[in-house]
Amino acid sequence: MKATLIVRRYDPESGKPPYDQTYTVAVGESEVVLDALIKIREEQDGSLALRCSCRSAICGSCAMNMNGHPGLACKTKVAALSPHGEPVQVGPGGNLPVIKDLVVDMGPFWSKVRQVTPWLRPGAPPPANEEYRVPNERMLDLSGMMACIMCGACVMACTVLEAEQGQGGKPDEGFLGPAALAKALRFVGDPRDGTSRERLEALMGGGGIWDCTHCFECVQRCPKGVAPMDRILELRRRAVDAGFTDHNGVRHAQAFVDSIRKHGQLDENYLARKSVTFGELFQMMPVALRMLLAGKMPPMFPHNLPGDSREDVKRIFEAMEEEKPA
Ligand code: SF4
Ligand code: SF4
Ligand code: FES
Repeated sequence: MKATLIVRRYDPESGKPPYDQTYTVAVGESEVVLDALIKIREEQDGSLALRCSCRSAICGSCAMNMNGHPGLACKTKVAALSPHGEPVQVGPGGNLPVIKDLVVDMGPFWSKVRQVTPWLRPGAPPPANEEYRVPNERMLDLSGMMACIMCGACVMACTVLEAEQGQGGKPDEGFLGPAALAKALRFVGDPRDGTSRERLEALMGGGGIWDCTHCFECVQRCPKGVAPMDRILELRRRAVDAGFTDHNGVRHAQAFVDSIRKHGQLDENYLARKSVTFGELFQMMPVALRMLLAGKMPPMFPHNLPGDSREDVKRIFEAMEEEKPA
């Protein structure tokens, strides 16, 4: 089949703004976007810059945007993106500076991974002449995070990073992002590590675990099933269990649960009141006023779900509490 690829080109050194270039290339049914790009580079345009190595979804170097979403170009079939011959949009992954065309600077990505101290800091040593054995079930849990190939697709997709950079934030500042936080859990959850508490405490600050908005993008885009958002939620649970509760994020989560338990649905006013300190609530007054004038203010007295549904919600809570480990 003939595929049309619309590739975002950009060379910062040229001083010209980014532009789209269209290529038509013959690809087989099973060929992937990377195959098409390599053919273009070899047969039509040697100036096209892209990064790749293993061509087997192992090395993590070919992550880029395809039809608006990041993924591995060596794992994404052209036919899947273009079932009826539609043009395929290809561009560099988001949230990282572009070096040239499809090649982004992974420096900010690595800088954030380094911030979570991605190596083991052993606790008590095993008895003399014995090796430390991690129980199989703990290792299984860790292996999900160890599947990460550091491709950066989750970071390229992260909506919080996008919002931060849209407001002038730098790529190596602000939210640590999904890959670094998944890596953090890999060591917080390792029974051989003796610094889990310090690690969790460090993640409670700005840019840490409470900055994620649960948008699910990183879960959807990760080519290795690492599910970074789920790892962030696990870090939150562990932080709360370790006693780190003095944080707006914790108050917000608790208010959310309390509201659903009481009304069967969300009371947004209660959520706002309980999530922030009095001073912060006061600072939000102008926003509240604008919402009121625009008719966007949630009702002052929350609606309850109808009786039967509320009873169902109550039963769900009871069932969860019965299942909760002591
Ligand atoms: S779920 Fe959280 S970490 Fe993942 S992409 Fe969304 S905001 Fe980013
Ligand atoms: S978590 Fe997934 S998407 Fe993110 S860097 Fe690792 S493998 Fe890539
Ligand atoms: S080229 Fe190695 S993951 Fe795609």
